[in-house]
Amino acid sequence: MANIVVVGAQWGDEAKGKVVDYLAPHVDMVVRFGGGNNAGHSVTVGTELYKFHLVPSGILNPHLTCVIADGVVIDPGALVVEIDGHKGRGLNFENLRIAAGAHVILPYHRLLDQLAEERLGDGKLGTTGRGVGPAYTDKAARIGIRMGDFVRPDRFAERLKVALEQKNAILTKVFNLEPLSFEALYKEYSEYAAKLRPYVHDTAALVYEAAVNSRGILFEGAQGTLLDLDLGTYPFVTSSHPTAGGACVGTGIGPTMIDAVIGVAKAYTTRVGSGVFPTELLDETGNYIRERGHEYGTTTGRPRRCGWLDTVILRFAARVNGLTCLSLGHLDVLAGLDEVNVCVAYQTSEGETLRDLPADFSYRTDIQPIYETLPGWKEDVSAATTLAELPANAQRYVERVQELAETRIGTLSVGPGREQTIVLDKTLEEILASTRARR
Ligand code: IMO
Ligand code: MG
Repeated sequence: MANIVVVGAQWGDEAKGKVVDYLAPHVDMVVRFGGGNNAGHSVTVGTELYKFHLVPSGILNPHLTCVIADGVVIDPGALVVEIDGHKGRGLNFENLRIAAGAHVILPYHRLLDQLAEERLGDGKLGTTGRGVGPAYTDKAARIGIRMGDFVRPDRFAERLKVALEQKNAILTKVFNLEPLSFEALYKEYSEYAAKLRPYVHDTAALVYEAAVNSRGILFEGAQGTLLDLDLGTYPFVTSSHPTAGGACVGTGIGPTMIDAVIGVAKAYTTRVGSGVFPTELLDETGNYIRERGHEYGTTTGRPRRCGWLDTVILRFAARVNGLTCLSLGHLDVLAGLDEVNVCVAYQTSEGETLRDLPADFSYRTDIQPIYETLPGWKEDVSAATTLAELPANAQRYVERVQELAETRIGTLSVGPGREQTIVLDKTLEEILASTRARR
């Protein structure tokens, strides 16, 4: 009976999909509430690896209804390819629902994403180039096209004409490019619309119904806290709200419907794209983490920047998301290091100590991490099923992270497999068992 939001506590790629997959048997619905196919969620089941971009990872559980909610931006061609690919591997999409209010990514969004990045040169954001930012820009500018309109041929034509007139003016006059043809675009995208039409619904009503009357909902976050448009490291952020509040606006339910928020973090930190990263390791240790953790983007294949765990960031994530607990993952990756560092605070060039994330974090190239150094562990931890089975130094690391993050650690992950999850305290059981007094 619990409605739980799962968010990334860092800069994305925290393995949120694995946590959703672990909790999915306990709920009746999984909802993706924001972002687009800039996300890449990998879930390992036995020897099979599934990669999701727009489809909620809950689709691996046939009993669940899976919703792509209003806050998501959808590249229809990419979604059709993703659905067809998974169908070919035996997954069932009968229970997929797509919000009529979700906005559509069109070819001009991808083009403008790439052109904007080129113009920024060295100052580029390092976007995934999927058109996500420009699609959200059009949503805010009120010239976007929503799924409900997209799947109605007359409305799609009408909305596309208005949008294309503006886009073609920009493409021809600002970028000296050829205009995009309405006919070609309309024809290609009408085919995707026909394929997606059966899935499109008023999902806000469905989600509300499930939130009140079902065993519970998992709200599957994409990206991470520090990529949030308002709360993250602006301007090096994505254009949506990956934080817990985004689960409400992005699906059409009120904050009082949420029972718990789980923040997913790795036992170290990664970041893709440009921007501040105080604990980044540009040395052998960084390479060691990247290779052992397979830290290459699921969506773009880019090598991820790697560094030590930063508990200043985790405390910030706990605060802005109202975290109930943390799910700490990738502990296995750190095995084999002599020592492991954890960032506890930052030191400014003036010698000041900052325990909290500064408001102008994005521009603080002057800050240095203050580390606490803990002894490492050589043993492989990937077969551990309880905290007690971990080497003493790994246990000590987990306990210290919990103290520094000032947030309980609900689960620990020691490998990509479903069975490689250790439940650390009663938090999750309590959340899952909670019956909701207000109903
Ligand atoms: P998941 O869901 C990591 C980053 C991009 C770039 C910035 C803006 O797999 O955790 P965008 O294309 O969104 O305009 O790019 O955001 N970014 C992610 N980084 N994981 C993600 O998703 C990301 N989605 C976007 O690398 O720095
Ligand atoms: Mg990813």
